[in-house]
Formats: sequence, structure tokens, C-alpha cells
Amino acid sequence: MAKHLVSVLRGTPSWPPPIWLMRQAGRYLPEYRALRARAGDFIALCTTPALAAEATLQPVRRFAMDGAILFSDILILPWALGYGLRFAEGEGPVLPRLEASDIARLDPGRLEAALSPVLEAVGLVRAGLDRDTALIGFAGAPFTVACYMIEGGGSKDHARTRTMAYRQPLDFERLMAVLTEATIASLSLQIAAGAEIVMLFDSWAGVLSPSLFRRFVALPAARIRAALGECFPEIPVIGFPRLAGGLLGMYAEISGVDAVGMDTAADPALVAAEVAAPVALQGNLDPAALLAGGAAMTAEVARIMGALRGRAHVFNLGHGILPETPPTHVAELVSLIRNSADAA
Ligand code: CP3
Repeated sequence: MAKHLVSVLRGTPSWPPPIWLMRQAGRYLPEYRALRARAGDFIALCTTPALAAEATLQPVRRFAMDGAILFSDILILPWALGYGLRFAEGEGPVLPRLEASDIARLDPGRLEAALSPVLEAVGLVRAGLDRDTALIGFAGAPFTVACYMIEGGGSKDHARTRTMAYRQPLDFERLMAVLTEATIASLSLQIAAGAEIVMLFDSWAGVLSPSLFRRFVALPAARIRAALGECFPEIPVIGFPRLAGGLLGMYAEISGVDAVGMDTAADPALVAAEVAAPVALQGNLDPAALLAGGAAMTAEVARIMGALRGRAHVFNLGHGILPETPPTHVAELVSLIRNSADAA
């Protein structure tokens, strides 16, 4: 029998819904901070199989989520293609600012060897998981990874990226094509190593106009979905085009993903009307409501669960856990979901 999370992602409704949380491994856990201190550097943590596997398992051990998301980062992909990456203390990722001439230097030939510690971690996690917990592999979607490369890190408005898409469309298409194929390779390797679900994080999808969204968010997701479907038809794909708003229905239709992630700003009732079943819906508690906890969190959970009754739903946050979140609130959330009264 399929694991609970996998079966819901394939479109079968279930009550109470399965639950896992974006960034469930991370700085809000004291045991993560200890592991991070041992590894020294964040990239070392991601590329030392025993440490990455341990970080993946920490939240599952504490909270028994239905899914374990591989501990890695979306920027490990450009790093594996030979692109510079470092994590500066307190300011996030720093990369070279991409110029058109850098695109030809991205080297898919080194991908598999560079990702080998990550794939080894996948195997270690699978061996350490109980049989009810599903292992989730992931990648950044090509557009979001391109944003970090073109901006050289995080950005408020992604103006450099959007301008390049209009001004140098051929270069931009070339970069997207390289990243799309590398994403297919990375996800395929993760599945071959033991991932049972994969998720595409398109954190900056919401900054694009509808025409660019179709070209650089929905169509690459469709290409990735189709390529994975050929080799791994049974593996569900979750697409998370964050802040896509009214374009979510179009995204689901064009991409063919099995499940759509809803960000904090999405109204689950509207999304349920726009995205046709059996596509599953994942989300979307505000991470700040989890941080706040108590009655405010309980009310938000009830609203989300009520809006999605009868629908294949995976409970999650609308974005990653905030580092200040008390771990006790996460335990309370999991227990709140698991003890939900039967659906009417
Ligand atoms: O638990 C999990 O969700 C699995 C691991 C995971 C991480 N990053 C670990 C991480 C996943 C799935 C990601 C995805 C990711 N990484 C995204 C997409 C989701 C989103 O948040 O929008 C993005 C945009 C990144 C890029 C990234 N990585 C940034 C901007 C930062 C710095 C900000 C921050 O939170 O520190 C990272 C670093 C990072 N990735 C950390 C973790 C646990 C913190 C590193 C540390 O320990 O200091």
C-alpha cells in the first residue's frame, strides 16, 4: 500500500490530512544548530552524507511528520554545475552575478559526481526512515535558481533578472534550458537513490508578468514533469510557484504537476475552485501563525482544513518555518492536525 503522503499527492483525499513542513529541518531546532556548528559551513553540511542525513531525520524523530524532506539547498544545483556559491553569515547566499558569457561555462558533465554526496545522503535517510514516512527530494525551479544567479544572491525586486528576460531573451532561454535539463537530471538521480516524491520550489514565480510566467515558470515545470513521468510515472511531483495568485490554475493545467503548493497569501477555497481535482493541494498555514501559536494558530488551521474538506490536501505551511519558532508549537500543530475531529 502506498504511504499516506504519496497516496494523497496522487489525488486520494484523506482525513486527517498528512502533514510535513517546509524548512522542517533548520535553525529553530537546537539539535540542528549543534549539527551546523559541527559541520562549520552550510555547504559542508549539505555535502557530508552522514550530516545531511542526520539533519533530514532530526525533525521526523521529534515530530513524526508524514514526510522527510532531504536536507540540502536549491543552490546546490548551480554549485554542482561549477558556479560559485557561498553562504555568508547573516546575509544568505552569495553567488557571482551572472553575465551571458557565464552560461556556456555551466558544466552538466560534472553534475552527477558533484551531487554524489547528496545522493548518498538520500540512501542513508531511506535506510533510517520508518516505513510510513515518505522521503521528499527537491530542486529549485529553473526560474528561481536563475534569479539567484543573475542577482548574485537574494533581491527585493529581481529587476536585473526580469530585465534580462526582456532584453536578452535568447541568453535567458539558454540559461533556462541548461537549468531545466540539470533539474531533470538532479531529480532523476534523487529518485533513483530513494526519493519517493519530488518538489519544485519556485519561490520568485510571483514577480513575473503573466506572459513571462507562462514561459519561464509553467512551461519549464511541464517539461520537468513530462521528463520525470517517462522514467518514474509513479513518483508524484509537487509544484510550488510562490505568489502566483490568479495564475495557479493555469500553472496546474500547463505543468501537469500532481500537487500544487499554496503560499501564505493564497485563499485555499479559491485555489480549490481554480485547480481541478484530482490535483492535490498543499499548504498553507502562515509561518508567523505557527510562531505565534495558541488560539490564533488553531483558528487558522480550522479555516484551512474547513476550506479543503473532501479535497486531496497535504497540510503544510505557506512558506518555510521561521528560525524563531518554538519547537513546542510544531509539536502542537502536528497533534492538532492528527487529532482533528472526523470530517462531516
Ligand atoms: O527542511 C527543509 O525544508 C529542507 C532543506 C531546505 C533548505 N533550503 C535548507 C536551508 C530547502 C528545501 C531549502 C529551499 C530553498 N533554499 C529555497 C526555496 C524555498 C524558499 O525558502 O523560498 C530557497 C529560495 C533557498 C535559498 C536559500 N538557502 C536562502 C535564501 C538561504 C538563506 C536564508 C536562510 O534562511 O538562512 C538558504 C540557507 C538555508 N537553506 C538554511 C537552511 C536550513 C539556513 C542555513 C543555516 O543553517 O545558516
